[in-house]
Amino acid sequence: MLDLLTAPVAACLAAHLGCPPDQVARLFAPPKGGVAADLALPCFQLAKERKVAPPALAAELAGVLAASGLGVAAAATGPFLNLTFQPAAVAALLLPALAADPARALRSGAGAGRTLCIDFSSPNIAKHLAFHHIRSTMIGNSLSRLYAAAGWKVVRINFLGDWGTAFGRLISGWTREGLTLAQLEAAEDRVTFLNELYVRSSQAAKGDPALEDDARRWSKKLEDGDAQARELWQIFKDASLKEFERVYGLLGVGFDSWKGEAYYEDKMAPVLAELEAKGLTSIDQGATVVDLAAHGLKDFKKPMLLRRADGGTLYATRDLAAADDRWNEHHFDRALYVVDLGQSLHFKEWFASARLLARPYAERLRHVGFGVLLVWNDEPGEGLEPGWAKGRTRKGKVMLLREVLEEAVERARAIIAEKNPGLDGAERERIAAQVGIGAVVFNDLKNGRTNDVKFRFEEALRFDGETGPYLQYAHARLCSIERKAAEAAAGAAGDPARLAREDEKQVLLALARLQSQLERAVEADEPSVVAQALLALASAVSAWLTAGNADQEARVLCADAGLSASRLLLVRAARGALGEGLRLLGLGAPERM
Ligand code: ARG
Repeated sequence: MLDLLTAPVAACLAAHLGCPPDQVARLFAPPKGGVAADLALPCFQLAKERKVAPPALAAELAGVLAASGLGVAAAATGPFLNLTFQPAAVAALLLPALAADPARALRSGAGAGRTLCIDFSSPNIAKHLAFHHIRSTMIGNSLSRLYAAAGWKVVRINFLGDWGTAFGRLISGWTREGLTLAQLEAAEDRVTFLNELYVRSSQAAKGDPALEDDARRWSKKLEDGDAQARELWQIFKDASLKEFERVYGLLGVGFDSWKGEAYYEDKMAPVLAELEAKGLTSIDQGATVVDLAAHGLKDFKKPMLLRRADGGTLYATRDLAAADDRWNEHHFDRALYVVDLGQSLHFKEWFASARLLARPYAERLRHVGFGVLLVWNDEPGEGLEPGWAKGRTRKGKVMLLREVLEEAVERARAIIAEKNPGLDGAERERIAAQVGIGAVVFNDLKNGRTNDVKFRFEEALRFDGETGPYLQYAHARLCSIERKAAEAAAGAAGDPARLAREDEKQVLLALARLQSQLERAVEADEPSVVAQALLALASAVSAWLTAGNADQEARVLCADAGLSASRLLLVRAARGALGEGLRLLGLGAPERM
């Protein structure tokens, strides 16, 4: 959208310089710190090509723009040409484009014709979705929407951790204790039931090598397709999925594929055979490994495990088989793995082996890592100091994602009841859910993903500052103005040329920047870029609307019906863009708060 503003300027300058407009257009940059302008054109390169001094060219181009009638003031500051648009000129270029569909502010065709496979959330079954799972789930969810907004075809994959040694241990415990399906079904929470079984089973095995062996044997039986093992595995999986769906429902997250680790169980043999045939494997204490260092990849200190000594296969082998499968099915242009930074080595290793195998997709794989989630712990339990802790509070218990979301909704309900007592019950419930959950989600997305995230209910739920509720409130405020305008049935036609205020221009510029921020977010796999751009838009909106408190003339709905109708064009565009931006990040956009 910014190019709606820059294109006419670039065309005018290019005509003067006698070059293609694109050569000028790609030079535009934000003005140097402290310069009060909307945009800058550094003249170094253009000057060099023309063998003139950059400041001289900047001054020459300033003259060209002054005579152009484009509604842009140009000043040469040394080698920079600084541009300041007239508000009405910005409005005239942007608002017609946004009038039909305000969501267009957050659309791009950059990814047209390309396919993304995105692996995210991917929890392990028979365990709860803990609070920290929100990171992969919501970074992945927002990336999948951002890519789609940038024109990509998106395949969302939940690579369930439904395989591995954990099941051997669970089955071992289950049979040892003689548990029954009826007992599992009678449990208030089936995942908690399984979780406790797992803990008991591992604790029992600690001092007992026979039990350790039993777990390993069950794990092997499961891999070999033993009927009893399979049946129990299916029971554990069904119980877990039921609970996961509840949480995904609260978060509004969906997937196109649920092919988990188990699905690849019989699809690893060809990959293993190929690795062997190509001479890439070796045997290390009975296990099959890829010695990456021996194949010229000196950065890898240890070999990558493919198959255990007892024949059981491993995580990396499954990831390779799954990548082949995704490639065959989707021919993806990019495959993302939204997984915490703690697993970086795993991804480096198997990406490297995909390269050794000369997979055509090897350069298309990206590990989208993220930092840890820290929770403020003010009721420390045994052995815990007050302070930031890794998703554990209240007596060292792991915080469940569902419980955190429920508490956030409860707290939001109380805040909303106080701020807006007029809302009726059902609507208040809906808004409390959108605000409470949105607060938790936004807290996770607003900072660069590789940073650690700190979470505190009080901070996340603030209505001011860098929060989800702050964005939602700006949206709701704009909705409320539109409702009042409809009641007053203004009738007059809007005219962008009447938007002459500086604070209106700032809203327009924030809108114009969204598209390039969307493209940046996609290229860097970084939802925070869009989160920050929305905060900038909300703060411009809020400055504009607040000006009306002190100054009747500045109000959207003022005495002049034509002016009101013109300002409503901007209200609609900003409301639409904020609503769409919230949706792309995975937050609801309530119309009242
Ligand atoms: N289930 C794994 C875990 O909980 C994450 C899987 C990530 N995806 C992948 N393709 N390896 O740690």
